[in-house]
Amino acid sequence: MSLFKKETFVSIGLILLIIFISIQFLRPEIKKRPVTGDIPVPANVKAIFKRACYDCHSNETELGWADQIVPVYWLVARHINTARAHLNFSEWDKLTPAEQKTKLWEAINHAALGAMPRPNYTFIHPSAKVSAADVATLKNYLAGLVDHKPSDTAKVNADALQYQRWIRGDQKITALPVALNGISYDPDYKNWQPLSTSDRFESGTMRVIFGNDIAVQAVKNNHTRPWPDGTRIAKALWTQIIDTAGNTRTGAFVQLDLMIKNTKKYRSTGGWGFARFKTLKMVPYGKTISFASECINCHRPMKDEDYVFTIPIKH
Ligand code: HEC
Ligand code: HEC
Repeated sequence: MSLFKKETFVSIGLILLIIFISIQFLRPEIKKRPVTGDIPVPANVKAIFKRACYDCHSNETELGWADQIVPVYWLVARHINTARAHLNFSEWDKLTPAEQKTKLWEAINHAALGAMPRPNYTFIHPSAKVSAADVATLKNYLAGLVDHKPSDTAKVNADALQYQRWIRGDQKITALPVALNGISYDPDYKNWQPLSTSDRFESGTMRVIFGNDIAVQAVKNNHTRPWPDGTRIAKALWTQIIDTAGNTRTGAFVQLDLMIKNTKKYRSTGGWGFARFKTLKMVPYGKTISFASECINCHRPMKDEDYVFTIPIKH
């Protein structure tokens, strides 16, 4: 029974303490980086980002005392280094204007959906929680970025006519464009059923989301978590314009996004094959085969809905 002697406890305790103290010196580096170009947003928006995101997504990390203690510190350091690689508000100037637009939207969407910051972080740092009022502030800011000037009527009509021609098949495509991951443009989407329309709050665009027969059937039977293999969902996107009479309508065709469900084939991207085709010429989007990681990253907050944002309207 010597194991239970008081001295044994004391020495085990001492050894643990020595280990604990020694590992404090194993500190992976959180790189000190200069703020080269802080994101230029109004003060009320900045305040939310600073409070909820900057500890991980900026070069102005402020660690609390609890974060400094190993092993918590190891987790924190790893988190910050990966978080900065995904999104760094302090190096906003390194992104192109198009990237800035996407990142900003992605950031606000993550905050609005409660995907960021994660609950395990806000549990320890309650002040980082994003409230409903914060979400409203962020969305308002995005909505204000949309240019609501009336568009040129002649251009509106030309765009509409161009789309009508496209629908009628005047503009024949002989060989179907193929994205780098092997997914080809599917002209059949025009015969699918609309699952929903969506007026994304920020970007002055209009979209219709279509589903093939398998998708429509899945909606009817409530089999959308997960969607069955063979499901095809398309999102057609137009610019949104306001004609001189003040009516909102579709402008130029921007792109067609496709998601094709095949659990095995597309395992690395959540079981969905992603592809995007731009303009009425349906030019495949993506410079390298890994372009789809951009798609799945932004769809990831919807993991519990099988990565699909749209809540389908039942027919
Ligand atoms: C405790 C650290 C931490 C905080 C605070 C935090 N994030 Fe993150 N964030 C991460 C990490 C780590 C990643 C890397 C990807 C992952 O783990 O999902 C990430 C990824 C992201 C991504 C990219 C998602 C992707 O898959 O590309 C966005 C957008 C994002 N965060 C937005 C925010 C916003 C907006 C806030 C504040 C409202 C915030 N984050 C707060 C740690 C944090
Ligand atoms: C910046 C975030 C973001 C990125 C990047 C993104 N999506 Fe989406 N996607 C959305 C949102 C939000 C919706 C919901 C509909 C809407 O509001 O437009 C959506 C909807 C869709 C839909 C309709 C089904 C659904 O989930 O509602 C398809 C198909 C789709 N996206 C394909 C793609 C493809 C392909 C790519 C990559 C080339 C991509 N997406 C990249 C945010 C994103």
